[in-house]
Amino acid sequence: MIKIGDILRGGYEGKEVSIRGWVYRCRSSGKITFTVVRDSSGIIQCISKEGEIPDDLYEQIKGLTIESSLELTGTVSKDTRGVTGYEIKVKGGKIYQRNESFPISRDKSEEFLLDIRHLWLRSREFTAVLKIRATAFNAFSEFFNREGFYNVQGPMMVSAQTEGGSTLFEVPFFDQKAYLTQSSQFYLEALIFSLEKVYTIAPSFRAEKSRTRRHLTEYWHAEGEVAWIGNEEMMQIEERMIEYIVSAVLRDNAEDLALIGRNVEPLKKVKAPFPRMKYRELIEKAQSWGLNMKYMDDLGADEERAITVHFDKPVFVTHYPQELKAFYHRPDPESPDEILCHDLLAPEGCGEIIGGGERIWELEILEERMRSMNIDPKAYSWYLDLRRYGSVPHSGFGLGLDRLIWWVCGLDSIRDAIPFPRTIRRITP
Ligand code: 4AD
Ligand code: MG
Repeated sequence: MIKIGDILRGGYEGKEVSIRGWVYRCRSSGKITFTVVRDSSGIIQCISKEGEIPDDLYEQIKGLTIESSLELTGTVSKDTRGVTGYEIKVKGGKIYQRNESFPISRDKSEEFLLDIRHLWLRSREFTAVLKIRATAFNAFSEFFNREGFYNVQGPMMVSAQTEGGSTLFEVPFFDQKAYLTQSSQFYLEALIFSLEKVYTIAPSFRAEKSRTRRHLTEYWHAEGEVAWIGNEEMMQIEERMIEYIVSAVLRDNAEDLALIGRNVEPLKKVKAPFPRMKYRELIEKAQSWGLNMKYMDDLGADEERAITVHFDKPVFVTHYPQELKAFYHRPDPESPDEILCHDLLAPEGCGEIIGGGERIWELEILEERMRSMNIDPKAYSWYLDLRRYGSVPHSGFGLGLDRLIWWVCGLDSIRDAIPFPRTIRRITP
């Protein structure tokens, strides 16, 4: 048994091979049937001729429907008329299942395609996106493993929010209330006291009430936390990490990027260092570009799109006013109304893919900050303990992996970056 992709790389002309897969297309003309077969690695045209193979097999092949599963044996030849430059002259084979007509065709609505996502995933475009996604997940871990980080795991069911109450999912937990985690950050913070440099890839949950092109209610969150470093050093690690992931995709997924029609020129420009800009400067720039924005406005999807079309690399926005961000961000000692944080905005109109920064590590400052935001310190007693016993300066970040894939693949919606999207109105399939 051989992968179709191996045949397409050449060297099998004149040889007999067996392939296994699914019918991608088929048509018969006279005594010849053309079956395009798909497997995980590619597609190839297979030609069966009546009289040259057993009659009952020919009848079966002739009657196949799209997505029927089969195995075919035959001789490879180079043929520029075949869809992918090669074809197989069929000698024998076996049909695993001839199915009813496949429910997906070109003219289906977006909602219908989401309803049958479990079948739509088989499309060549989706397969390409999923291969790129696999590269990105692996490259993320590979980068941090090489940098001496430890791969750790936090819980998904938690007792307190990290990123604000409006997007919390509540779940019953015996006789208590629990939440699905919005971020593993606080657990990573606890783990730096033993491991110093840690990362995790885990789901995060946000009860996002709006339907946007870039929000999921369950998404894959790649987070890191590092002892002894500040905001600027954290950004330096992140820009190298993004460059590493994008280069891995360009190197390993050239065919997949071509198949989904992604222009790779903008991706080739993703090289560290990335520009940095304080929030205050960004607002001034935005005003000079004619955007209706003032200091203290949060950046929504529309603002970020309008801003990032002006950049051809990802850009870090730092020093947000503290009111715009969660309570744990460390105020800049030189300008205490601003915090030592960063968002990384992806170019081409995509916007935020990373949020991170330096954490408040002194107990008194953290307690004071919580009081001023009406947050009950009791709910965070274990988190405050981290500031009681050997506290150290530290920084971290969270990268939305689905957002990263959405940008790298140039997709319309983040829903097309994940196999089984969860959004405000969708929990199946
Ligand atoms: O900016 P956020 O909310 O930051 C945190 O959760 C920090 N605790 C991370 C940390 O410092 N460890 O989320 C981080 C990233 C965002 O930049 C975005 O890429 C992604 O998570 N994200 C979402 N992705 C898809 N759907 C959503 N609803 C998302 N919300 C955040
Ligand atoms: Mg954010």
